[in-house]
Amino acid sequence: MFYRAHVLVEMTSSSVAFGAAQVKEAFEKEIEKAGLGKEVKVLETGSFGAALPSPFVVIYPDNVVYAPLRVQDVRRVVEEHLLKGRIVKDLMVCGGMESGTTEFVCPFPLAKETRVVLRNSGLIDPLNIEDYIARDGYMALAKVLTEMTPEEVIEVVKRSNLLGRGGAGFPTGLKWEFTYKAEGKEKYVVCNADEGEPGTFKDRLILEGDPHSILEAMAIAGYSVGAREGYIYVRAEYPQSIRHLEEAIRQAEEYGFLGENILGSQFSFRVKIRKGAGAYVCGEETALLESIEGKRGEPRVKPPYPPQKGLWGKPTVIDNVETLANIPPIIVRGPEWFKSIGTPTCPGTKVFTLTGNVNNLGLIEVPMGITLRELVFEIGGGVRGGHGLKLVQTGGPSGGTMTPDLLDVPMTFDTLPKYNSALGSGALTVIDDTHCIVDVVKSFGEFFLHESCGKCTPCRIGNKRIVEILEKISEGKGTVGHLEELRHLGRNMKMTAFCGLGQAAPNPLLRCLEFFREEFEVHVKEKFCPAGVCQLKSSRRTVR
Ligand SMILES: Cc1cc2nc3c(=O)[nH]c(=O)nc-3n(C[C@H](O)[C@H](O)[C@H](O)COP(=O)(O)O)c2cc1C
Ligand code: SF4
Ligand code: FES
Repeated sequence: MFYRAHVLVEMTSSSVAFGAAQVKEAFEKEIEKAGLGKEVKVLETGSFGAALPSPFVVIYPDNVVYAPLRVQDVRRVVEEHLLKGRIVKDLMVCGGMESGTTEFVCPFPLAKETRVVLRNSGLIDPLNIEDYIARDGYMALAKVLTEMTPEEVIEVVKRSNLLGRGGAGFPTGLKWEFTYKAEGKEKYVVCNADEGEPGTFKDRLILEGDPHSILEAMAIAGYSVGAREGYIYVRAEYPQSIRHLEEAIRQAEEYGFLGENILGSQFSFRVKIRKGAGAYVCGEETALLESIEGKRGEPRVKPPYPPQKGLWGKPTVIDNVETLANIPPIIVRGPEWFKSIGTPTCPGTKVFTLTGNVNNLGLIEVPMGITLRELVFEIGGGVRGGHGLKLVQTGGPSGGTMTPDLLDVPMTFDTLPKYNSALGSGALTVIDDTHCIVDVVKSFGEFFLHESCGKCTPCRIGNKRIVEILEKISEGKGTVGHLEELRHLGRNMKMTAFCGLGQAAPNPLLRCLEFFREEFEVHVKEKFCPAGVCQLKSSRRTVR
């Protein structure tokens, strides 16, 4: 059926919280009432990625963005714009996409966007496989099954130099090769969609907006490593992602992209969904495997690594959602195209989620190597309320602590560790200078204390001691010796904790003790909180 116009309503979990479902319903009702039911179609889409207020609606093909659009304004948009062809200027924020193309031209913060991972998000109906197919969906799987051997696929992924986007930045092609070469008839593909890192919501928006891209990539991974079965371990707090995945799996099976003898080939592959157990540590790959197996989510000893001994002891490749979303375009467009984006050692794009004290909140996909200055001050529109920047926590509490001296460092997996920082999962939590550093690191410490699985002593007890000492400091009972003790504890945990959670937990503390040394010292020596946050006297009192 041909429609004269489409109303695209962004339907992410957060837009739903702002009333997007009611706005969609109001459009459907008003369009029927105006007799436009056969001419205009209302579609749910994934995230547009723009840092614009929800509910967010694009009228296509006029490319007009209305945001935030309230239910009571819908009738006017239908009567004026859809019936009479007159744009409702006072409700419009910008002319969204250039006519006849699928490129966003206007939404202001998006000027630097390069969309690979989010190529379909906001443009297709995620619940309709034909929308995905119309934008070259499942073309990569068809190419792989008809033209390439598993070794050739792995070679392409290796040549692309795609680094895992789950936080650690390990080369994906190598991981696929290890799994391919591992002995064993039964192998598995696991998609890590646990996304427990505070401030990160990119995987959710990929799954909500383009679930088929993940299924296609998992099938390609399965073909490459020799697996017939895949699992998506998805955070249970993401009901919309789960709903979209379930529907996508059903449609992919119906169309023959999943199941037995895919596209008439010898290759068969099925995908199952497992809901996360609600613990942050279950995002750690071996704890995740334990959880899928129905056990308590505690990390395993490594080595052996999952490519050798993974799910039910069989070779398993585990990839993050964003990593997988890169696979189909790499196959279709080639590794050289992929390497033309980003930096030579860290190619491609990165999806960042901007949160905290910044003017434009939301997610953005940009080439690797962008600087924090561009992200926070250009795309993010600067620190909210005109305050100064204290720090940006990248990749949640486990990631890196970017202090203002690092604003011009290229953001890549290989550069940031040189500055004792890390790219992590792509969360960017902006913290302004009204915050107290003791309070900030205490809140990170409390997070780790809550999330520690308790299996090993350095993490179980270390986090407890860190929080206790920081509490003392914030109550005016801290000493210079406490600062030494914190450093000692942090270094020991890094060296001796059993898994990545405990090893990364002291990172923000150690970095802040170094960069904000003076602020810590004022707390313990003068019992003074420069930010006025702690339960301390606000006037200076020197205690030596
Ligand atoms: C405590 C902890 C939590 C983690 N949480 C996640 C997560 O939520 N999602 C994710 O993809 N990786 C997470 N990881 C990293 C995974 O262990 C693993 O490296 C990743 O899934 C590999 O995929 P990639 O190579 O595509 O990045 C976590 C690691 C640790 C130590
Ligand atoms: S480091 Fe923490 S989360 Fe990891 S095994 Fe030890 S106690 Fe558990
Ligand atoms: S907690 Fe500190 S002054 Fe703050």
